[in-house]
Amino acid sequence: MAKVKKAYFCRECGFEAPKWLGKCPSCGAWGSFTEEVIARDSGSVPAAVAGASLPATRPQRVTEIKDNVTRRIDTGNSEVNRVLGGGIVPGSLILIGGEPGIGKSTLSLQLALSDNGLRTLYVSGEESAEQIKLRASRIGIVNEECMIYNETLLENIVAQMDELHPDVVVIDSIQTMYTDLIDSSAGSVSQIRECSATLLKYAKGSGTPVFIIGHITKEGAIAGPKILEHIVDVVLQFEGDTNNSYRILRGIKNRFGATFEIGVFEMTGEGLRVVENPSEILLSHYGEPLSGMAVGAAVDGIRPYLIEVQSLVGGATYGTPQRNTTGYDMKRLNMLLAILEKRVGLKMFQKDVFLNFAGGFKVTDTGMDLAITASVMSSYFDRPIDQSICFAGEVGLSGEVRPAPRTEQRISEAARLGFKSIIVSGYSGKPYRKHPGISVIRINNVAELARRIFTHKDSDTEEDNQ
Ligand code: TYD
Ligand code: MG
Repeated sequence: MAKVKKAYFCRECGFEAPKWLGKCPSCGAWGSFTEEVIARDSGSVPAAVAGASLPATRPQRVTEIKDNVTRRIDTGNSEVNRVLGGGIVPGSLILIGGEPGIGKSTLSLQLALSDNGLRTLYVSGEESAEQIKLRASRIGIVNEECMIYNETLLENIVAQMDELHPDVVVIDSIQTMYTDLIDSSAGSVSQIRECSATLLKYAKGSGTPVFIIGHITKEGAIAGPKILEHIVDVVLQFEGDTNNSYRILRGIKNRFGATFEIGVFEMTGEGLRVVENPSEILLSHYGEPLSGMAVGAAVDGIRPYLIEVQSLVGGATYGTPQRNTTGYDMKRLNMLLAILEKRVGLKMFQKDVFLNFAGGFKVTDTGMDLAITASVMSSYFDRPIDQSICFAGEVGLSGEVRPAPRTEQRISEAARLGFKSIIVSGYSGKPYRKHPGISVIRINNVAELARRIFTHKDSDTEEDNQ
């Protein structure tokens, strides 16, 4: 009988050990080892030869290498192009991660069906061809060249890729794929590692870009070993609140472009709609001003957008006041509340504070501090803030208002959306370019903020004319 070869793998980082270990010596994770069968017969083909049927490459002189990195393939979707840094680089391996049901399959199928002139091989191990057809009809089939392939055995997939020479390949999802060279089940660390290594060889060898869809664990990491993230050229994360229709595609790693780009989508009945102007969905335009609302000019990566922050400050019923946030770091909120307490004299210790962002967005930009502070003050005094004002600034521990990064871009976005004034830090020595229709108000500390927002008259604004 053939000998069974087993090994233990760390689920977090893919570290391989001959024995079970409580703590991973590589990444330090506890209880992360799982037993996996690698090969039934120790004399079978070593895993490293998995891609033996693929075209062999040889060393090339640097000047002989074709200069195709500059060529980008248009995906036919402006937001995806943006996140990829201007389109797909030929031969790249792109990982799309995200929680189940967020829309990874929808997005990739939509790319395959869009009018981009590319022949896509969409390999699915999750849904049947009929189910995919149903979805495709909903999205709208523009590109009839798209091919659907229901398969999970990697050797068959590679054979089809070699035969069909598609322009783009989508693997949905890497956790359902397996190779015959390894005996562990699909989704195990060794399978994911081998399958992605083979796909990498195929992508590099043929110049065909491959999109790999990967699930995400409860902790928010891309399931399977970290190795997957190291192997691929680009990691995109699809985020969003499943109760909400907005989705963000975020570049986490990109060997060919900036990592800070985001793409914004809305999930509709006919698939994902590109949202070119995120501010349009993040500002609610209530008829009359409401207390506790403030608009901040935020920047995510390099993209400016305006977002509404809403807070509710109420008397605490219990000894320890409640603080609750959606889409924002609670520690940062507590810090801002402590600053208001100490520097402005608001009695925050007796108050419950709830904070929300429009559209279920997650905000980490410190440039939103000023808008959050203004919103809390507005709710505390129950006095609305003029809807024509927005904010962009960081708040320091001494209550000083510091310049937010990329303030210039924030101002121009606010001007574009028709805001009459924007409150920024007075500490920036730089004069800002003048934007028609918006006055730039500079303040130095949070105590000044209260005076500005509640006694705001047009005559008060001092325009930054330098
Ligand atoms: P899906 O792409 O299957 O998610 P993932 O592959 O990330 O698990 O997305 C499924 C969700 O999207 C599902 O709840 C239905 C919704 N959806 C729409 O709202 N409109 C559509 O046109 C499509 C195709 C899906
Ligand atoms: Mg799916």
